[in-house]
Amino acid sequence: MHPMLNIAVRAARAAGKEIVRAYEQLDKVEVELKGTNDIVTNVDIAAEQVIIETIRKSYPRHTIIGEECGLLTGEDNDVQWIIDPLDGTTNFVKGIPHFAVSIAVKVKGKLDQAVIYDPIRGELFSASRGKGAQLNGFKIRVKQARELSSTILATGFPFKYKQHTNAYMEMFKSLFLKTTDMRRAGSAALDLAYVAAGRVDGFFEIGLKPWDTAAGELLIIEAGGMVTDFVGGHNHEKSGNIVAGNTKILREILKDIRPHLGDALNK
Ligand code: IPD
Ligand code: CA
Ligand code: CA
Repeated sequence: MHPMLNIAVRAARAAGKEIVRAYEQLDKVEVELKGTNDIVTNVDIAAEQVIIETIRKSYPRHTIIGEECGLLTGEDNDVQWIIDPLDGTTNFVKGIPHFAVSIAVKVKGKLDQAVIYDPIRGELFSASRGKGAQLNGFKIRVKQARELSSTILATGFPFKYKQHTNAYMEMFKSLFLKTTDMRRAGSAALDLAYVAAGRVDGFFEIGLKPWDTAAGELLIIEAGGMVTDFVGGHNHEKSGNIVAGNTKILREILKDIRPHLGDALNK
């Protein structure tokens, strides 16, 4: 295993332990609103601290970008750790056992290592650049569907950006009519990991952040799939508008999304 992946796994497992311990006493969790429909808890922050400490023990000079801590520029800015300590905070707070820790490492701007860890199910998704993707040590691949019929797509609703409700619903409707069904499970990191593992055939969501998607993107690429923005380009890290699947399914999703983009989502 690559040494940085080894540390990412250690950090994700340590954060997962912290999260599960808190989940067993949910009434003690402190919840705060940090934006429109956007919450943070003391557990998000504690889990992030555990991850940062684990990384710093081995790599004190690397840059860290965390959802809660922001940008911590290190002496070696060529290596960046991109962390979502708890993806699916709303599920966590409501007692829905579907959330994950997401950790990615970028080297000179390129995704290099990825871990997404579901501490409830004990599922660890991992990938190293050029070495494929794995779930608990077993190789995973994206599903090879060629058309939307008989597929299941994962998605996230734009609950923080309700100005996009109409556009989103039009995209949803167009895709829903062609697919078998849709899933909105509440963790973008796990949605992407499930695309990589072939559990769902594709994914799309408006307005995600780099920490939601970085690890999932490498997992999908290493599992033989593709990730783009809403116009098939590579601006998704900036725009947060993301589509994933095998090449064929991704193109099919883009066809249904495109007519509803307007200026705001055309990126
Ligand atoms: C959220 C989850 C959710 C997605 C949101 C994300 P958080 O992350 O991934 O599925 O729909 O857009 O912000 O806030 O729980 O880390
Ligand atoms: Ca997130
Ligand atoms: Ca989070």
